Amino acid sequence: MLTVLRALEGQLRAATGRAFPEAAAAAEASGKPLDPALGPASKPEFGDFQANGALALAKPLGQPPRKIAEAIVAELAADPAFSAEFEAPQIAGPGFINLTLRPERLAAEVQRRLGDPRLGVPSVAGPDAAAGQAPGELAVAPVIVDFSSPNIAKEMHVGHLRSTIIGDSLARVLEFRGQPVLRLNHVGDWGTQFGMLITHLKQVAPEALDTADAVDLGDLVAFYRQAKQRFDSDEAFQTTSREEVVKLQGGDPISRKAWTLLCDQSRREFQLLYDRLDIRLSERGESFYNPYLEAVVADLEAAGLLVVDDGAGCVFLEGLQGKDGKPLPVIVQKSDGGFNYATTDLAAIRYRFRAAPEGDGARRVIYVTDAGQANHFTGVFQVARRAGWIPDDGRLEHVPFGLVQGEDGKKLKTRSGDTVRLKDLLDEAVERAEADLRRRLQEEERSEDDAFIAHVATTVGLAAVKYADLSQNRITNYQFSFDRMLALSGNTAPYLLYAVVRIAGIARKGGDLDSGGADDTAELQFSEPQEWALVRQLLQFDAVIAEVEEELLPNRLCSYLFELSQVFNRFYDQVPVLKADGPARRSRLALCRLSADTLKLGLGLLGIPSLERM
Ligand code: ARG
Repeated sequence: MLTVLRALEGQLRAATGRAFPEAAAAAEASGKPLDPALGPASKPEFGDFQANGALALAKPLGQPPRKIAEAIVAELAADPAFSAEFEAPQIAGPGFINLTLRPERLAAEVQRRLGDPRLGVPSVAGPDAAAGQAPGELAVAPVIVDFSSPNIAKEMHVGHLRSTIIGDSLARVLEFRGQPVLRLNHVGDWGTQFGMLITHLKQVAPEALDTADAVDLGDLVAFYRQAKQRFDSDEAFQTTSREEVVKLQGGDPISRKAWTLLCDQSRREFQLLYDRLDIRLSERGESFYNPYLEAVVADLEAAGLLVVDDGAGCVFLEGLQGKDGKPLPVIVQKSDGGFNYATTDLAAIRYRFRAAPEGDGARRVIYVTDAGQANHFTGVFQVARRAGWIPDDGRLEHVPFGLVQGEDGKKLKTRSGDTVRLKDLLDEAVERAEADLRRRLQEEERSEDDAFIAHVATTVGLAAVKYADLSQNRITNYQFSFDRMLALSGNTAPYLLYAVVRIAGIARKGGDLDSGGADDTAELQFSEPQEWALVRQLLQFDAVIAEVEEELLPNRLCSYLFELSQVFNRFYDQVPVLKADGPARRSRLALCRLSADTLKLGLGLLGIPSLERM
């Protein structure tokens, strides 16, 4: 309905201009067009849209807002393009204009979506790309989603899992909108950690440095922990580790080989998880930017931003002070000449916005990490802007998320107090989903084969983990609870998957609409309020997708899908569908089909595949 909304906005603006030419002229002169303040109606009984623009005009025009609204409405009603789509506008309260689409317009809109695999969501790539052709000359600059990004030789933790799930869903929504998306895995594969690890391994397990898989990843993680302990307490070890980093960064063949082996091993382990969750990522780790680090410092120097403070190269931030009231620095070169996490991120930003072939030519770069890195990103974003690396329309966005907590509200841990291994976490979700399923099958006296049980349990278990993560407002901390995420009722994946199965079953029983056959062109007719409520809910899908694309909040899509299933259930419980006949039956079955399609598409954008039966 976004197209309708945009057209309506134009009609309202024109009507206001005709009613109050002086207001239009003033707006013109100030460079800001008149704002009809149009949005969705706050309650269904107010119709579809509400325009509050009359209120803001009261003061400049020196007239009561209600009178202004009346004048706008009179002009609006005289516009045939408006009247063809809308009922007569109503004025409410101090001067709100309530706008209701004509029923036949709503029905026609439903009709259009029945034959549209994109369900009314336009593609920025244009019709060619939507038809499956590679976007050609018209292609828009890419959007980069930097997500997951675990660290080599360290354990991937629940924070990385959150980043992986949220980042994937945002990438899916952007891709569905036709954006070319680069899904980048900015793995931590560079820096001091390798110096420590290689130094330690040379002494305790040298075979790990020249033979693939000589030790397994669990051992490697343990070795890393020991190395870190030694690094923190043993000065000689520290010095050797630093030298080792310099060797690696300078391309020493032995260090390089060790590094490659270590990275390969972690990489394979990460990939198991990505495959299991059906997540695609292109690895472009920190090491990729190594050749560009010097240029970062040179650029900052040339821009007059670099200050040497205590031997370290810094850029002092504007508007951000520390406790002592002094501006906070972003350190880009340590006093020993080495570079750090921030330097790498600056090099990455510079590269990502730079035009191809020297860079990615992106116009929007999105980072999905825990909220703890907010200050880091605020700092590097500011430095990058001041260095002039970001084009005017370039967008840099940090998508922060809260901590994952156990049911006790503390950091998620196993019973023995260890960090939870992601593999174990997913295994447990699937095992519990299987136990629930077997119980339900027994209650319903159904028998299903093992392949069915395995498929449903895997789908439901993984969906539950993903959905629990996505359905929260991501900024707040989130409490991980298997019981809650696997419940068949409430805002959960099992509830939504079940709704799809149920609706798809009804549509199948109705038969006639499933084929997309001749009936698709017959006019749809709705009469009951429950039908209209469902129609309106279904038609909001495109606006919800646009909102997620803009605000990067997948939980909005989750809430929408949850509400849709509830509105659907109300409709199906209160209005006869299979027992109705004639146009009513056909129209109601059409609503069933569109509801199932919308849920399936929406879940797919969350990275959750639907089931036929469960
Ligand atoms: N490796 C980092 C971590 O584990 C996350 C990297 C996020 N991306 C970035 N461009 N800094 O915390």
